[in-house]
Formats: sequence, C-alpha cells, structure tokens
Amino acid sequence: MTNELYRPQFHFSPQQNWMNDPNGLVYFHGEYHLFYQYHPHGTTWGPMHWGHAISKDLVHWEHAPITLEPDEHGQIFSGSAVVDWQDTTGFFNGEVGLVAIFTHHDQDPDSDLPRERQSLAYSSDSGRTWTKYSGNPVLTDSRFPDFRDPKVFWHTQTNQWVMILASGQTVSIYHSANLKDWSFASQFGDGEGAHVGVWECPDLFELAIDGDPARTKWVMLVSIGNSPEHREGSRTQYFIGDFDGTAFKNDASPETVQWLDGGRDNYAGVSWSDIPAKDGRRIYIGWMSNWKYAQVTPTESWRSAMTMPRSLALISRKDQIILVQQPVHELNHLKLGTYKWNETIVEPGQNLLSKLDLPYFVIEAEFELQTAAEFGLKVRTSNFSETVVGYEMEKQEIFVDRSRSGEVSFHADFSGRHAVKAETSDGRLKLQIWVDTSSIEVFAGEGEAVITDLIFPGEEEQGLEIYALHGTVKLISLNITPLKSIWT
Ligand code: FRU
Repeated sequence: MTNELYRPQFHFSPQQNWMNDPNGLVYFHGEYHLFYQYHPHGTTWGPMHWGHAISKDLVHWEHAPITLEPDEHGQIFSGSAVVDWQDTTGFFNGEVGLVAIFTHHDQDPDSDLPRERQSLAYSSDSGRTWTKYSGNPVLTDSRFPDFRDPKVFWHTQTNQWVMILASGQTVSIYHSANLKDWSFASQFGDGEGAHVGVWECPDLFELAIDGDPARTKWVMLVSIGNSPEHREGSRTQYFIGDFDGTAFKNDASPETVQWLDGGRDNYAGVSWSDIPAKDGRRIYIGWMSNWKYAQVTPTESWRSAMTMPRSLALISRKDQIILVQQPVHELNHLKLGTYKWNETIVEPGQNLLSKLDLPYFVIEAEFELQTAAEFGLKVRTSNFSETVVGYEMEKQEIFVDRSRSGEVSFHADFSGRHAVKAETSDGRLKLQIWVDTSSIEVFAGEGEAVITDLIFPGEEEQGLEIYALHGTVKLISLNITPLKSIWT
C-alpha cells in the first residue's frame, strides 16, 4: 500500500517493516542503487539484512528483493558498494561488476562480546543477484569492539582503494589493491569534533570549492550515536580538510563542532559512489529518523523513510569554506502548477494563504527583512495543529517548531523547536520548504542551513499560513507548488 496515513509521497520508504541506514549507494549503468538496513520480520530493529531499491532518477524507486541475509558470520550491518571497473578483485573474469563492503556483526565465541568484521559480496548482473565472498571476513581489528560501517572509494591520486570506517569514537582508514587484503593507514578523531556518542557511518570525499575543480577540499561525515544524556539523540557532524590518500587533516580547530543538520531527523547519511564525472555531483541521502525515538514513531506497517537525495557542495564566503546542501534537481519533475505571489508586504494578523489546503508540496520564498521580529510559514495547520518554519531576527536563526505538529506524544523528546543560524544576504532570506505527509525539510540561502524533521499531522490538517510578528516583512516572491506522488 502506498496511501496509508503518514506514508511519504515523495521520499523513499520500505514497502513494509523496519528500515534504518542507507547502505551500498552506487550508480551503475544508468541506475541508482539504494540498499538499506532492513528487518524484514518486524517494524522495530532486529536481525539486520540489506534491503534494496533501484531508481533511474533518484525519485521513483522500484523495490527489489532482499540482497544480503545474516549468515554464519552474523548480521549484515551498514556498508558501501563500488563499481570494480578494473576487476581488481578478480570476481568478474576481467569484466566490470559491483562489490559491496559491509560489516558482519556477531558475538565473539571466546568473550561473548559483540564482534564486528568487514566482508564482501559481489554482483555480475547489475546488482540483481549477489554472492558473498568465500574468504569473508576480509578485515578484522581486535583493537576496536565497535568497528563498522566501511565506506570504500577508489583514490585516483594514489591508485588504490581506501576504506574509512568507524572505530570506537574515531574513524580508521585502510588501504587495499584488491578489496580483499587491507592494511591500516591512519586514524582520525581523537580530541576532534564532538564525542557525545559512538562514531558511526563515516564518509570521505573531495569537493570543488565554488565549482572550481582546481580548488578542492575533502569533507568527512561522521554520524554520532544516540546517548541518554543528549536530547538531540543521534546526529551527524562533518569536518572539512585535506586528505593525501593516507591521513585526513582537519582545517578547523579540534574543538570546533559542525553539524550537518539543525533538525533531528537526518542520520547515518552517506553519498553515492561512481556518479559519472560528467554529472559531477556528490549526492547524499540520510535516514530520516533518530535513534532517540525511531522505534516508536506512529506508523503501522512500515517504519522510517530516507531524506530527499541532496547534492553537496562547498562554497566560499568571506574567508570561510562552507558545506551546502540542495535537494537534487530531479525532484523538480514532481512539481505541479505553482501558486505565486510577488512584492507583497506581510502584516501581523493577515494570512495570504488562507484559501490553500495542501498535503505535500514545496514552498520557495524570498523575504526582505523589515521590522518584524519573527516571520515565517505554518504548514499542515488546523485549529489544533501547525508546524511552524520561521526566522527570528534577533538571533538570526531559522527554526522548525513541531510542538503542535500533530501526533507528538509517542516519545518525550519528540516535541520541540529546532533552530540553526542562517545568515541573510543584503537583508534578504531565501527559504525552500519541502513538506511531505510525515516530514519537513527546510533549506535556507544556498543550503548552508538545513533543518530536517519528522512530523505526524492528521490527514485533515492541510492549512497554510504566512505570518509576521511585531512588524512587517516583505515577500519578494513566494511560490507554492503541489507535488505529484511518486507512487502514481
Ligand atoms: C547506525 C548503525 C550503524 C550500524 C547499523 C546497524 O544507525 O548503528 O552503525 O551498522 O546502524 O543497524
């Protein structure tokens, strides 16, 4: 079914049962593969498999059979996939094929403690069927009980495979010529960034600055697990720096912490491998939930969705290099007819949008700041509920307030307001707000401030409002566009 209450209409969700992290993101022969942590026998976390879906456009997904099931080495935890163009593994008789590199998780028979080791599986038929490598596991390191989520890429400058994986509250980097034999290269993270939980699901990739291929930096993503002391739950930090094939050097001071998302529901995200050079994008997708409450969200036959796929880039501003995110342009194909407003002053107590009722849509707005202390939009409203997206002038922050967004009582830490700094440029603020049946994703400016939050409004709660408090704000332009469902 694709029309249940809360079923996302333009985000990927599993047909049924439990999903967490995106895995094995790889592009091959015109297809985007999305594997994911999957429990096929229940709607909460359980013995992990890799589920699978395939898309030609990152928007419409075809569900495929389960790819990897637990075996004598344990459950199948997170990992990545690559195209082995040169048959470095010898799995493909000199041809090209796909290799998945993942964590086997089991109990150490000697100590009964959890044990995590890295393994391979390969496919010669464009990801339709997979064989686990008979020499599994290929990488063990008893220094780290938490040793998982390998992300592998070909490092052209040094002509070898590089693996980055989580090792306790650090990441470790390994080298290989054939994906089967790995040697330790370096470790990063001691004393760097946030250490409020175990490190998970790292990624490492090079990005051009301001689109100039001659000026690049490396970006490292590191997700941080849930811990009872932090209301924020699980979230993702990033580092910008240099990577020479062996070691990563962080540009920021060690105590600097940079979060990828100002909301609560963007975790374990990583990027697609083998996007063709002529496309050139670094495309990211995250698990749109939070370990704090993921297992009790109010959906029935399935649990969790992915964020929209996003394209990541670096831009320079003043003397800083910042990471920006934008929804992939393919999503624009879902747009139906747009409602438009231009050059309009928004005053307290008025609602320009009182005639609109929409379940899933995108809002693109540009404001010119005037005297209002706060302004913004309310979506999925009724007399009883609303999700507020606003800008607070004094703090220069955008925020999403989901305290009255519908069903919020399933977990004490779900309700709340999440804010993040968003600089205006020449007194103007651009906002993009993508609303689905159970989520909201807000991008400010060029995508330097992002908030991703789940919401669970009732089916009838479809009103919209634009508001200003204690003064006015000028709308330069406002486009509100209903979206087509990806299931039709
Ligand atoms: C992150 C994570 C990974 C692990 C997987 C298990 O959400 O904890 O570190 O591989 O989920 O499902």
